[in-house]
Amino acid sequence: MTEQPATDTSARPAADAVESALLPATHPLRDGRTSGSPLVLAARRRPVPHTPVWFMRQAGRSLPEYRKLREGVPMLESCFRTDLIVEITLQPVRRLGVDAAIFFSDIVVPLKAIGIDLDIVPGVGPVVAEPFRTMADVGRLRDLTAADVEPVLAAVAELSRELGGTPLIGFAGAPFTLASYLVEGGPSRDHAHTKALMYGAPDVWHALLERLSRVAGQFLRQQVLAGASAVQLFDSWVGALPSRDYREYVLPHSARALGAVADLGVPRIHFGVGTGELLADMRDAGADVVGVDFRVPLPEAGRRVGPDHALQGNLDPAALFAGPEAVDARVRQVLADAEGLPGHIFNLGHGVLPQTDPDVLRRVVDLVHESTAR
Ligand code: CP3
Repeated sequence: MTEQPATDTSARPAADAVESALLPATHPLRDGRTSGSPLVLAARRRPVPHTPVWFMRQAGRSLPEYRKLREGVPMLESCFRTDLIVEITLQPVRRLGVDAAIFFSDIVVPLKAIGIDLDIVPGVGPVVAEPFRTMADVGRLRDLTAADVEPVLAAVAELSRELGGTPLIGFAGAPFTLASYLVEGGPSRDHAHTKALMYGAPDVWHALLERLSRVAGQFLRQQVLAGASAVQLFDSWVGALPSRDYREYVLPHSARALGAVADLGVPRIHFGVGTGELLADMRDAGADVVGVDFRVPLPEAGRRVGPDHALQGNLDPAALFAGPEAVDARVRQVLADAEGLPGHIFNLGHGVLPQTDPDVLRRVVDLVHESTAR
């Protein structure tokens, strides 16, 4: 395709999508490596050669090569080592044949990078030494500069070179989900401290989410400028809120985080768990693609989100243990559900569970590709 004269766009499926001149000339979207990839096309609701597929948490404990590489290296340390980020990110691309890589990191990495005392405890998740409860605590959050995450951005740059035509998805945690870890001090089922702050001290809440939206937006923007071809904002725990509270306490802040990359023109995906009642609200935060968990069938999600957005999802990760025939049937059901949507990216309804057999994931990828090839 590179020998085509610049004026002949016939062989370039995405050439009519003008990429932002704010992206470096060597960025994979601008130099054409990923602009015609199935993931980018589907996110832009354009015809695709086959339905793209990737898995949340595709890099991680389900892969024996990951477990081997991580032996003796704490999670957060691995997130700041360029060599490990690159290798762990590439592992699922090689083994599973997915249509996108998601860079290996964690939602708390930018918080660690600006000096917040936190750790990722195996089997538990992020734990914050001094939970955030007051306006003075909000002052502990400063802007994130590229220098703070230099080894991470070096990995993103190296990955975008190594991946060729496979897009790299950058990501950040959304302000609500980050706040829930900071306010609770760790994972929480009921988000009691978080909601107490939100309803009881809305000035502190909005100041906190404003700061977090800036950090998340800055992190996304740095990843895109370093070579990511798409981004996903993870609001994993926001399904704990009703629509009215989401719109008042969360939406403006998530919109600010997503808005930080709007002028760069990269596809933006926005995902949460248990967010069936919030799909239309999350759409309003500004992403191109709305992620759907496994509780809402895609046709219903499509009605809630409307025709101007693509959907991502939504096979139940627990269904991958049901044996080959059941898995195949459920994959086909998701694909049948997706027919008629303006754009569809196949994914799970949440992350890959650690006990998942990678061969089953490979089979899902192959089945999605075979049964949607056009
Ligand atoms: O492949 C990918 O999706 C990229 C890697 C990735 C990780 N975390 C690696 C990780 C991504 C995108 C995340 C995001 C993340 N982290 C979210 C949002 C996505 C979601 O699942 O809803 C959340 C809520 C977190 C917070 C977090 N970090 C949790 C709940 C855990 C699990 C704790 C445990 O041990 O069960 C982590 C740790 C973590 N992040 C691991 C990985 C691979 C496991 C740590 C390990 O391998 O030792």
